[in-house]
Amino acid sequence: MVLFKKSCFIIAFLSFAVGSLHAAPASSEGRLLYDRHCSVCHSMAPPPKSAPPIIGISLHYREAFSDRGKGVKHMAEFMKKPDAKNSKLEAAATTRFGLMPAMSLSDKELAIVAGWVWDSHDPNFRLPGNCK
Ligand code: HEC
Repeated sequence: MVLFKKSCFIIAFLSFAVGSLHAAPASSEGRLLYDRHCSVCHSMAPPPKSAPPIIGISLHYREAFSDRGKGVKHMAEFMKKPDAKNSKLEAAATTRFGLMPAMSLSDKELAIVAGWVWDSHDPNFRLPGNCK
């Protein structure tokens, strides 16, 4: 019986671990930066808070850039100095949510969190198409 309980605990723990791996696929440092600096505006998935959800942003960046390095670089530069004409989202995103404020993170932190956004892609996610 004790043994049974123990294995139940292990299974519960393992499924929790797999679940959190899915939520933070790339780096937990990126996830921590997101929790601290981005999650107040960006939810992970719809419904949105006051900004487009992360998995939608990730999809748009993957459509705009075939290369991870270039996509992550552009994203980090955007966060440092947001400018609507450099946006890779639909123009309606800025109209609906306004422009993102500049982030005062170091270049290294911006690169880490941008890489994490890129890696947060969910292949099953479809854009809701309601960003009007
Ligand atoms: C005060 C709210 C706010 C915070 C905090 C915030 N964002 Fe944003 N973000 C927005 C809004 C609004 C948009 C949509 C308009 C735009 O693209 O500027 C956006 C857009 C973006 C985009 C798309 C850029 C593009 O090409 O248009 C990325 C990438 C992004 N945010 C990443 C982040 C990350 C990563 C953080 C944390 C380090 C963060 N944001 C923090 C409000 C915020």
